[in-house]
Amino acid sequence: MTSLTFPPGFRWGASTSAYQIEGALDADGRGACVWDTYTAQGRIQDGSNAATACDHYHRFPEDIALMKAAGFDSYRFSIAWPRIVPAGTGAVEPRGLDFYDRLVDALLEAGITPMACLYHWDLPQPLEDAGGWQGRAVVGPFADYARIVAARLADRVKEWMMLNEPNVVAIHGYGTGEHAPGHQLGDTGILRALHHQNLAQGAALRAIAAEHSGLTLGTVLNLQPSVPDSDRPEDVAAAARWDAVWNRVSLDGVMRGQIPPLLAEAMADFVLPGDEEAIRYPIDLLGINYYSRMTMKHEEGHPFDVWWGEARCRRWTGMAWPVQPEGLYDLLTELRTDYANPAVFIAENGCAYDDVVADDGQIHDDERVLFFREHLEAVAQAAREGCNVKGYLCWSLLDNFEWAFGLSKRFGVVRVDYDTLARTPKDSYRFLSSVAKGGDK
Ligand code: BGC
Repeated sequence: MTSLTFPPGFRWGASTSAYQIEGALDADGRGACVWDTYTAQGRIQDGSNAATACDHYHRFPEDIALMKAAGFDSYRFSIAWPRIVPAGTGAVEPRGLDFYDRLVDALLEAGITPMACLYHWDLPQPLEDAGGWQGRAVVGPFADYARIVAARLADRVKEWMMLNEPNVVAIHGYGTGEHAPGHQLGDTGILRALHHQNLAQGAALRAIAAEHSGLTLGTVLNLQPSVPDSDRPEDVAAAARWDAVWNRVSLDGVMRGQIPPLLAEAMADFVLPGDEEAIRYPIDLLGINYYSRMTMKHEEGHPFDVWWGEARCRRWTGMAWPVQPEGLYDLLTELRTDYANPAVFIAENGCAYDDVVADDGQIHDDERVLFFREHLEAVAQAAREGCNVKGYLCWSLLDNFEWAFGLSKRFGVVRVDYDTLARTPKDSYRFLSSVAKGGDK
């Protein structure tokens, strides 16, 4: 068997998120979200914003055609909460629902299975003003929003993901302030944001399941194995602490209804009786976003007194993230062994590099091709060894608005020229296409 052979029925595609690609932020009654506010505060490194981004809101037919031509059969996108319920609670904006209706119909028409994610970081600003993920006031509105969207789309969208990377929202949004809403609320702020997202997720899963049968319900977690920088006891303890915060609050929350014992005391003030039951849910599909391992050491003055050590890796990406495909293999096998082999989907995996447009007008992104090849080998090996991995979605279809980095970091397999909005497939697009079509083994 060759190294890029996958189980029968293995699915292929790409992931995107609304805020990063849609643009059209003022169109059709959309409300403001925390990223609009954060951007307006001048906190994006290259001074850009997402007002136009890839203009996917108007150009989605072209983007769907690109996926179809690649041979992709699956697409994860996110729905913008502020397009559907502009104030976070209350009035529903039908024009927002109409947009996703058109998108879904066009995907199905192209033979691409839509996987809708309900929350990829665009919290309506009025909900943040009322405390955001620091409190439980947001739980009910999220479940209501989930119910509204499913009522409109669940006749055609069968796969639903609740959240995207609650750990990144909590740590960067409420801990370090590097993401919207930009707070620095310390360890407790991080744990509060994690717990309230868990509660909102549990409520939304139940809200959708109560009204629709036959759906595949899940969530998307960014799981990165946390390894110690050295075998000094304080580094080993630091890596375990970081594992609890980064991975386990979310993973064990939904899968086991368990608050990590290491954090139980720190979370005791806001975990109420009944919460563990409310956050547990027998999801049908776990989406995994994987970028690298995390090599951690003890260092005071950082969240949880943990800081980055020196990663052992093959290479570095243009984000200065280590390339460690072995970590993806380890993660998949751990889920098989310790979590009863749940059905999983690689919901994001990819890399940014400083792409160059060559004289022939093309983007020969060899480093990205190699990144994909090595990670796909890890997935294929895990699948051969019995891991229940159903598909692979690259991050991302298009170059897009990379949050605090703005438009300066390019993760797409299709280049976007931000002046003309022209799309140019890169060599990595052709590579993934050939794998998806079964031609590159
Ligand atoms: C997020 C994406 C982001 C990507 C690269 C993930 O954390 O889900 O929105 O663009 O990583 O940073």
